[in-house]
Amino acid sequence: MCGIVGYIGKEEALPVLLEGIKNLEYRGYDSAGFAILGEDEKVSGEKAVGKISALAEKVGGRKFGGKTGIIHSRWATHGGVTEANAHPHSDCKGVIWLAHNGIVENYKELKDELNKKGHSFKSETDTEVIAHLIEEELNPVRSRAPAQGGSPEGTAGAATSNGTFSNAVRNALKKIRGTYGLVILKSDEPDTLVAARNFSPLLVGLGEGEYIVASDAAAVLKHAKNVLYLDDGEMAVLTRDGHRVFDLEMRERDKESQVIDWSPERAQKNCYPHFMLKEIFEGPEAVENSVRGRLVLEEGNAKLGGLEKVMPALRNAKRILISACGTAYHAGRVGEYMLEEYGGIPVETDIASEFRYRKPVFREGDVFLAISQSGETADTLAALREAKEKGVPALAVVNVVGSTIARYADAGVYQHIGPEIGVASTKAFVSQVSILALLTLLIGRQREMSVVMGRRIANELTKIPELMRKILKQSDNVATLARKYGKYGNFLYLGRKYNLPVAYEGALKLKEISYVHAEGCGAGEMKHGSIAMIDENFPSVFIAPQDSVYEKMISNIEEIKARRGLVIAVATEGDKKIADIADDVIYIPKTLEMLTPLLSVVPLQLFAYHFGVLRGLDVDKPRNLAKSVTVE
Ligand code: AGP
Ligand code: GLU
Repeated sequence: MCGIVGYIGKEEALPVLLEGIKNLEYRGYDSAGFAILGEDEKVSGEKAVGKISALAEKVGGRKFGGKTGIIHSRWATHGGVTEANAHPHSDCKGVIWLAHNGIVENYKELKDELNKKGHSFKSETDTEVIAHLIEEELNPVRSRAPAQGGSPEGTAGAATSNGTFSNAVRNALKKIRGTYGLVILKSDEPDTLVAARNFSPLLVGLGEGEYIVASDAAAVLKHAKNVLYLDDGEMAVLTRDGHRVFDLEMRERDKESQVIDWSPERAQKNCYPHFMLKEIFEGPEAVENSVRGRLVLEEGNAKLGGLEKVMPALRNAKRILISACGTAYHAGRVGEYMLEEYGGIPVETDIASEFRYRKPVFREGDVFLAISQSGETADTLAALREAKEKGVPALAVVNVVGSTIARYADAGVYQHIGPEIGVASTKAFVSQVSILALLTLLIGRQREMSVVMGRRIANELTKIPELMRKILKQSDNVATLARKYGKYGNFLYLGRKYNLPVAYEGALKLKEISYVHAEGCGAGEMKHGSIAMIDENFPSVFIAPQDSVYEKMISNIEEIKARRGLVIAVATEGDKKIADIADDVIYIPKTLEMLTPLLSVVPLQLFAYHFGVLRGLDVDKPRNLAKSVTVE
């Protein structure tokens, strides 16, 4: 997830690029850089670690003349946050320059092949291989004539792409496995800019005699109201004479332009009114991105490259200690049920602020797992440090690449979901639960889990994003419920087994977004105290899908109803029985019990969001909270 802007037109490119990328900074801001193609066919540019402001400061008053250029604000996925890894990246000779949003899953094997052909790399990123692939297509190193004879540039005509820029890009992209939003320039073709998209958003602003390519509309509004949204597998060739769009078989595509009339601020949220709602709706894509390239369906297994070096420790593990805070802790609690029931390994999950102060007794065979979206939560980092101090193999599930927890862990799994801006964690939760399901496969298949069970879980996990999208279509209905229950100031969230952590998470969402009292409670536990609070002014939210504890949940709902309590139930599609006893029902599709949290949490995220909006609160920046709690 990053920001990309490309420009080709009649104005000086750099001011347009800097202004455009500022509007995309929310998409990722580890580092930034640009490349400008001057009339002399020379490329000049600058890079800086940190936000766009750091880049602008480094540029100072220097001029970078040229009317074609690209700029990028990075959200690192492969390679640390360094200036060398900042985009744009180029080929060996600095002819091809490109900015990339996405992940090249097969970059290692491509890089090895290119190294063998004599390419030299300047960065650790996956992105850079794309520039060298294009170079290889234009001017294969193997066909390069020796310096003393033949053209030093090799026999251009020999290029497999009959030498054209766009053909070279096309052939290079066909070698890539993964996701990309790309904008590419070629130093000896100042009148051409190529853009390409596969799973990472990219659009083309159609200005007057100018084009501006961007990751989203926020960057183009000043220059164009008409845009072309590229679709997956499409490539746009932009020249001062016009634009054409092709697929990777070079079949021309006839694209309809669309008019956008958003304000830049609204465009940053991709037409959503708040980042929180945008990120709830990004949940399915977050699951896809966290799982992408990591399932081995045939074997009913998962492959987590970041854990390769600790596989012996995982194979011999006798217990897993999970530690996290807030929403990440709730994800960990779901993971605990998964790993015990399907991984066949004992698990203890602790809130990090407690783990680090109680005297944990570590044993031979312990493996520690930290979960943290930001990778900077002080309590979680301290718990990780405590485990490492005691010689326990320390793993981490983290979203922010190069964050402190990511760097300090012995090994880990990145979430790959792009920045989460809303303070209330939403897409991070479903991403973390998905990764814990992958870990369950990995560990379970090392133990008792059969290939049949593994395949069932793996195949069902691939269906989850579509099932989530189906639930998201109910957002308006959930808003109606939030309106109906908006006058209440107390809520009890109840669940069992996999949905107990979801009850905790649903309560946390409501609390932190709308400041009303809400608490999660084990449904079997409510008769030991919490039910005393119930009356007609204290609604309950039951997460009661048709699973192994469904009948128990039905009884608990009856107990609440017997005390005049109102009940909102999250239930399985087609469950008529629960509709007869609950006051309101939000239905979710059927799935494997261990994966229900990925579905049952969605209505609760929406309920909290709409509840907070109806109260007129700042749902993206709730009072008293911070996105990353880097203090104890
Ligand atoms: C959840 O909505 C909150 N933003 C908060 O509880 C958060 O989950 C917690 O601070 C942990 O953050 P982390 O995942 O970045 O470590
Ligand atoms: N995978 C590339 C990198 O890590 C691009 C990441 C992004 O989308 O910003 O540099």
